[in-house]
Amino acid sequence: MFLAAEFLWPSSRQEQQTPPLVAAGSPMDDTPLPLYSVEEPSAARTDTTPITFKYWRKRHTLFSKFDKGILMDEESFYSVCPEILSQYMAEKCGRVKVAVDPFCGAGGNIIQLARLFDKVIAVDIDEDKTMMAKQNARIYGVLEKIEFVVADFFKLANQIKGDVIFTSPPWGGPEYNEMDVIGPLDLCVDKILEVGKTIAPKILLHLPKNLDKNECWKMCNGVGAGLRKIENVFMDRYLNSTLLYVRSNNVSLSLKA
Ligand SMILES: C[S@@+](CC[C@H](N)C(=O)[O-])C[C@H]1O[C@@H](n2cnc3c(N)ncnc32)[C@H](O)[C@@H]1O
Repeated sequence: MFLAAEFLWPSSRQEQQTPPLVAAGSPMDDTPLPLYSVEEPSAARTDTTPITFKYWRKRHTLFSKFDKGILMDEESFYSVCPEILSQYMAEKCGRVKVAVDPFCGAGGNIIQLARLFDKVIAVDIDEDKTMMAKQNARIYGVLEKIEFVVADFFKLANQIKGDVIFTSPPWGGPEYNEMDVIGPLDLCVDKILEVGKTIAPKILLHLPKNLDKNECWKMCNGVGAGLRKIENVFMDRYLNSTLLYVRSNNVSLSLKA
């Protein structure tokens, strides 16, 4: 797996990064589970969906410890951030103590955050996702660093505090890939920033590759957030996604660039 980032602004320089794919962590403990373990899809099984087929071969890209008992549901197969990218993004948060993931899902991002920082606050509206994320964090040996909150993030303004928000918010399913371009408002980026800036001064968002980047500048100005940088991320030489580095306008920034 090869990952590279292209800085679109303010610098035109190109950088290539190859963070290690192997995650650190303590051996699995013996807690009984899993409720949601995913079996290998089989053409003979009528309950196997095309989604599971398509994404099954990528399972170790999502979690290198997949075979240790990782829990995922069908949605997680197309929404968990690839491990190498989660590592890259976590490193880009700079020197912080508390990171917040408002849409933690099955835990791809929070596991990498917890490997680097003292504490992670992991929010998800779906209790089942939180249960899966707990098990997955346990497999990577970082469970004790994560505080889980089952809640609607958009109702949490001023209620939690962190140094940085780092997240892959919902993209609306794999259909995003069929659109020429997606506006930031379609992904609720404005609402995420409105609430996010009451929680942390720095925000790093992982968004689709076909994001309308020009609209992002306007939108950030509109909600009083400073867009510091946009990055195109390539995996195995294909454009994979976009990273948005944002800060609250009245707070000095230190996102590692
Ligand atoms: C793209 S997935 C997150 C994947 C995760 N970042 C990872 O890498 O494993 C988006 C998650 O957002 C959650 N979600 C959707 N709306 C939410 C809301 N209003 N508040 C909190 N979580 C929400 C969904 O339940 C889903 O688990």
